[in-house]
Amino acid sequence: MGRKKQINFEKNRRNPKVIEPGKDEFLSIRGKWNDTFFGNDSPIVLEIGCGRGEYTVGLAKRYPQVNFIGVDIKGSRLWKGASQALEENLNNVAFVRNKVENLQQQFAENEVSEIWITFPDPRPKERDEAKRLTSLRFLRLYSLMAHQQGLKAHLKTDDLGLYEYSLGLFRELNLQIEFFTDDLYRSTNAEELLNIQTTYEKRYLSINKPIKYIQFLIPAASVPHHPLFQQLDFPPIKRELKERKAFTG
Ligand SMILES: C[S@@+](CC[C@H](N)C(=O)[O-])C[C@H]1O[C@@H](n2cnc3c(N)ncnc32)[C@H](O)[C@@H]1O
Repeated sequence: MGRKKQINFEKNRRNPKVIEPGKDEFLSIRGKWNDTFFGNDSPIVLEIGCGRGEYTVGLAKRYPQVNFIGVDIKGSRLWKGASQALEENLNNVAFVRNKVENLQQQFAENEVSEIWITFPDPRPKERDEAKRLTSLRFLRLYSLMAHQQGLKAHLKTDDLGLYEYSLGLFRELNLQIEFFTDDLYRSTNAEELLNIQTTYEKRYLSINKPIKYIQFLIPAASVPHHPLFQQLDFPPIKRELKERKAFTG
C-alpha cells in the first residue's frame, strides 16, 4: 500500500466520523444512529457510493437539521469528506466504509429517509446487472431501511445506458418518478442539483457530457403489496447499456 493511502487510512481510523470495520460502532450502531451518534431526531440521508463525499458534506452544510451519511467501500476516497467534516465540525455528518450490499449491518428498518446515488459505476455487462446500484436487488435492499413513508431517491449519472436502464426498471416496478431529465443543466435551476458537484461530475462537465438525473420514490418494505416486492422471479433486464464510462478510478 502506498504511503499516502496509509496516512489516509490512519486518518480514518482516528476520525470519529468514520464508521468502519475494526471500530466498535461498526456492528453496534444499526438502528441507533439518532440516539447514539447524532443525538437528535433529524431525518437521515445516505449518499450511496459517495467517493469523496461531496454530496454528504455539501448537503450537510446547507441543511444542518438533517443528518447525512456517506457510504463507500473505499477508505482512500471517503477520508476526504470525512476529514473536511471533522475540520469544519459538521455535527450532522458521518461516513460508513462498507459495501452497499452489506448496508443492513449499519441501517435498520425505518431508519433512512432519503438516498443519493451519485455517479455509480454503470456496470454495462449484462452479467453484472445485479451489481448496478439501481438494480432490483439494490432497490429492495434500500426499501428494507426506508422510513415508513418510503424513501426519496436521487440518481445522478453521466451514463445514458444506466439512465435508460434505471428509468425503464423504475417504470416496470411502478415506482413513483418525480422528475427525470437526460440533461440536468438545461432542465432545472435547483441549487442543490447544480451547485454540488462530485469529483466525477466535474470531470464529465469538463468534457461537456450531459448529466442525467432521476428523482423517484422507493416504498418501504413494510408495504409488501407493492410490485417491487411481488415480482419475486423478476426476469433479468436484458437491456444493453449503450455508453461506457469515460473515466475509471
Ligand atoms: C464512479 S465512483 C463515483 C464516486 C462519487 N459518487 C462521485 O460522483 O465522484 C463510484 C463509487 O462507488 C463506490 N462503489 C461502487 N460499488 C460499491 C459497492 N458495491 N459498495 C460500496 N461502494 C461502492 C466506489 O468505491 C466508488 O467510490
